[in-house]
Amino acid sequence: HPTEPLPFDETIKKIRGVLDAKKLPSPVLGIVCGSGLSTLVNKLSDTVQIPYSQLPGFGQSTVAGQQSALAFGLMGHKYPVVAMLGRFHPYEGHKPAVVTYGIRTMKRLGVKHVIITNAAGSLVPDIPVGTIVVIQDHFALPALTGMNPTFGPLISPEYPRFYPLGDAYSVRLRKLAFLAAHQLQLHRDALAEGTYAWVSGPSYETPAEGRFLRNAGAHVVGMSTIPEVIAAREEGLEVMVLSLVTNMVVIPEKYRSIRDEVEAELAGRPLALPPIEVASHDEVLVASKQKTEVMGNLVTKIVELVQEQ
Ligand code: 6GU
Repeated sequence: HPTEPLPFDETIKKIRGVLDAKKLPSPVLGIVCGSGLSTLVNKLSDTVQIPYSQLPGFGQSTVAGQQSALAFGLMGHKYPVVAMLGRFHPYEGHKPAVVTYGIRTMKRLGVKHVIITNAAGSLVPDIPVGTIVVIQDHFALPALTGMNPTFGPLISPEYPRFYPLGDAYSVRLRKLAFLAAHQLQLHRDALAEGTYAWVSGPSYETPAEGRFLRNAGAHVVGMSTIPEVIAAREEGLEVMVLSLVTNMVVIPEKYRSIRDEVEAELAGRPLALPPIEVASHDEVLVASKQKTEVMGNLVTKIVELVQEQ
């Protein structure tokens, strides 16, 4: 199988042209903005946006609450960054090459560190809605079973065929996240640490699946990010992931007994049971909107600390 050439040359040429025209330096740090988190772009100065439609290799984000553009600008003390406003997921029908293209483009622009954000569901009661989880580890059921985004021929012969993920989540950057929260005087509960379970979506978990993921040791679950993390590590980038908890995964401890319900109805004493709770994208968007400012302030402070180190 010959490697399909990815259109980096054309994309990078186009981006460099725009940056040069605006006298903007090449970005050193990349940010991926998840559902409802693209307001992060308001923290940039000297901003220039390039729609994905003008960049070969990028797709179009089709998810509600996500845009489709690369934003370049300065953050903190004039630190050059690039932000992906909107990302790609396999469930939209995008191929792994498209899902990982943004990260690989960042690397070719000179990016060294990436901060990847997402909206996620919490699997544990002590991580409530609104918490920002500094991800320490992940498990990726799709990747373990053949949907690894780096599956296939090598991008080029210099790439590693095998590479570790035990050190994927930079200890240095995770420390800076907690230092930044301290400097911003965020409440101690504003930040948590946890393990992210990547599922392919787009259906949300059933109760049995939620219980399975929780019992396997995950704290949050989501449908994005991990393909980007894996590609970023293949590219040798320093990675941090921040998950904003937008909803609790409903994991009933006990199933309702339909037999009990029918027998109670037959006896003329129907049981008053609450309706079944389910996850919805609307609650995800509402919660991310409420916390978008905190997330923006936190990322900005982290970027300042990266720059100072
Ligand atoms: Cl509850 N599940 C998944 N898979 N992804 C999510 C989510 C839940 N909430 C936000 N993203």
